Amino acid sequence: MTNFTEKLMNWYRKKARKMPWRGEKDPYRIWLSEVMLQQTQIDTVVPYYKRWLQKYPTLKDVAQASEDDILKLWEGLGYYARARNFHKACQQVVQDYDGKIPTDPQAFSTLKGVGPYTLAAVQSIAFGYGLPAIDGNVKRVISRVKRIDEPPSKALSEIESFLKANIHNAYPGDFNQAMMDIGATICNPNKPRCEVCPLSSECEAFQKNQVSLYPIKEEKALRPHYRAAVGIVWNKDKLLISKRKSEGLLGGLWEFPGGKMKHGETAKECVEREVEEEVGVQVDAAHSVGVIKHAYTHFSIEMEGFLCRYLKGTPQTRDCADWKWVEFKDLKKFAFPMANRKLFPLLPKTNPFRSFQKNADRKLKTKNKLK
Ligand code: ADE
Repeated sequence: MTNFTEKLMNWYRKKARKMPWRGEKDPYRIWLSEVMLQQTQIDTVVPYYKRWLQKYPTLKDVAQASEDDILKLWEGLGYYARARNFHKACQQVVQDYDGKIPTDPQAFSTLKGVGPYTLAAVQSIAFGYGLPAIDGNVKRVISRVKRIDEPPSKALSEIESFLKANIHNAYPGDFNQAMMDIGATICNPNKPRCEVCPLSSECEAFQKNQVSLYPIKEEKALRPHYRAAVGIVWNKDKLLISKRKSEGLLGGLWEFPGGKMKHGETAKECVEREVEEEVGVQVDAAHSVGVIKHAYTHFSIEMEGFLCRYLKGTPQTRDCADWKWVEFKDLKKFAFPMANRKLFPLLPKTNPFRSFQKNADRKLKTKNKLK
């Protein structure tokens, strides 16, 4: 065993953080935790993990669930493709592997959504395979330990070879989790706590007093900003929601129909155009309820909501996967993207056009009677 490995493992034996999935033997639970933990803080994950296991104690329960129920339970955790993929992967395991998660890394890697990180994390923790799990934290630690003079994304093979040479043969899962813990609690991005780091004697950046120079910064992609407008379309006691197609960032989630504003278009025009393009319904976007802002990881958005009077047309799935008329009180049963949910408190709970509509219905009836 190298000095690096020995120091890391001794530290982990004393300082491992407590988490509900640590010490877990059930590979389904380990896999679930690793999927939830991607790009997400542990404190955020814990309540989701517990709620999930209450509802779906086994992989078979996940495989039998509807995608809508899966997305509802995931609502607020973000990166919804993770949930859709995990759902499909559980169905693959039931169909192709008799419900048993494959213990062969090659077979496991063919399941939906299983990339190199999930493969290594699950196979090392659940089945003891010596595969290094490389997340953002681990890349930072090794960039410092080895003083890598390139941004981590360009040095993956160097990082991987170092980890392969040092991974603990008997306890690769503990080794991987120890690396993650060092990255999350000691080798922080801005204020690394080198004075308590068990690896400081092995860390080239620390030895040369250059920790603040590493890792070399990645070139950052600019996050686009969108302006959008959506329609809260009332007809009698119900409002109209549409389901996003399953591909893409917020795929499979429900929303108020609407979309991005075109150059030179007003928000009202945008809503009326988008509602017709998406669900084939004509509306009068009568009143704005306000504008909300939300920053997702890959883009930020300013979104204006309009109370819309239904004019005509039966909804169709023109540019959406599904649609539904629902009561206001039932909105919470569906999984919505965060930006849409921020509009909920701004909405009236009943149809604000009801008296208009009743009068119009009455007039129509009287007119028909007179005929
Ligand atoms: N991040 C992702 N998986 C983790 C794990 N098993 N322990 C700590 N942090 C993690």
